[in-house]
Amino acid sequence: MSRIATVLVADDDRGIRTVLDHALARQGHAVRSTGNAATLWRWVSDGEGDVAIIDVLMPDGNGLDLLPRIKKLRPELPVIVMSAQNTLLTAIRATERGAYDYLPKPFDLQELGALVARALAAPRDPAARPEPAGEESERLPLIGRSPAMQEIYRVLARLMQTDLTVMITGESGTGKELAARALHDYGKRRNGPFVAVNMAAIPRELIESELFGHEKGSFTGAHMRVTGRFEQAEGGTLFLDEIGDMPPEAQTRLLRVLQQGEYTSVGGRTPVRTDVRIIAATNRDLRQWIDRGQFREDLYYRLNVVPIRLPPLRERAEDIPDLARHFLAQATREGLPAKSFDPQAFERLQRHRWPGNVRELENLVRRLAALYAQETIGAEVIEVELADLRSAETPRRADDDNLGQAVEFHLKRYFAAHGDRLPPPGLYDRVLAEVERPLILAALAATRGNQLRAAELLGLNRNTLRKRIETLRIEVSRGARSD
Ligand SMILES: Nc1ncnc2c1ncn2[C@@H]1O[C@H](COP(=O)(O)OP(=O)(O)OP(=O)(O)O)[C@@H](O)[C@H]1O
Ligand SMILES: [Mg+2]
Repeated sequence: MSRIATVLVADDDRGIRTVLDHALARQGHAVRSTGNAATLWRWVSDGEGDVAIIDVLMPDGNGLDLLPRIKKLRPELPVIVMSAQNTLLTAIRATERGAYDYLPKPFDLQELGALVARALAAPRDPAARPEPAGEESERLPLIGRSPAMQEIYRVLARLMQTDLTVMITGESGTGKELAARALHDYGKRRNGPFVAVNMAAIPRELIESELFGHEKGSFTGAHMRVTGRFEQAEGGTLFLDEIGDMPPEAQTRLLRVLQQGEYTSVGGRTPVRTDVRIIAATNRDLRQWIDRGQFREDLYYRLNVVPIRLPPLRERAEDIPDLARHFLAQATREGLPAKSFDPQAFERLQRHRWPGNVRELENLVRRLAALYAQETIGAEVIEVELADLRSAETPRRADDDNLGQAVEFHLKRYFAAHGDRLPPPGLYDRVLAEVERPLILAALAATRGNQLRAAELLGLNRNTLRKRIETLRIEVSRGARSD
């Protein structure tokens, strides 16, 4: 820079002023500092300064209140707001009122220096500054205007100018990944990489290496040094999907990154500083996992700085027509014939419960666009598709099916719950007991506890029934209709 830049500083703490004076002078800047808002305002109105650093609390005024006046008079002047009130609200207010950036106290002098340098290098054209939140959210790739979604947009817009760690929760298919991308694409890191890692998709023993990289020879098969996702996401955003599936050791490492801003690779010794914004997502209740000792509570609080809960689609049925139209238009753009829904179709879609949320709706609309010839889609077509869906895709509920299917369904789930291992031995008796018990109970209830008649109904010998009742520890009370 040919001209020496002037930094204006307003903070009523003399100690901080001295430190800043020195640090900024060492960077080659001229510094003018004051302990009150009035003097700063005079300098600004006189056209002085190339960047201003102001504290929120000053004896004669609030830096945040000064901010809009400064931005009105000198929109091109970058203002960095410092505050010891480390609340999200301060950050949000500062951003809303046009602060170039917000720096919670105590801050790292180096960080401040870098910030000042960036502010000075930033384009002076006020039009190049990020747009205010309102217009920004218009362009969000998230569809839906329900109050629930508007609230989400408001939070997202505010978070875009921050590096705060965000935890997005919501049922499967509610748009967690989409929201994370929006935060990145429209935020201040948009020019950096967006790296998504799904904890559930990576073998547990490889997660640490995947995230933090590993050194050559750090474990069997580690033939060369490999960079991790943290390194790939440097300067951008790292999206940690299905965070609940992170194994304990990886959790410990991640916690360290969040606490210290640095990590070591697997098998590495030297800590690496990192500049990555973390967004985590999960569709489970992590608090339950904490109670069961499967997720670190301290990590949870570190990640949960700003929680965002995406509401299930059934809680915002008013968004369904917009979403359905959006997905139809998308299908048309991809070359499928243009179609539309009639009002009854929308009405039918709004009555569905959407266990798979927006993803389920998206798939349904795509199927309709591809499979049906008619231009206008009515309720009957939707009805047919939803019925198909129930029998083919959604896991069967026992009460919808015949007994054999219900048992089959439960057995599949039972085996799946054991993963690669087998369930404990004695399965035959356990399963038969599961069927036998309700059967005998039902027979006894229907015969008001009359074992003779129950035996007859079941087609069992009376003594056999008595033995089974004993074995299964069924309590019989005469005259009762149920247990
Ligand atoms: N508000 C929305 N507007 C437009 N499309 C959406 C919206 N929400 C979700 N979608 C679409 O629905 C699909 C599912 O979204 P996404 O993958 O973000 O969900 P998710 O919450 O991450 O789901 P899972 O928990 O299963 O990973 C995507 O194709 C996404 O584009
Ligand atoms: Mg997802």
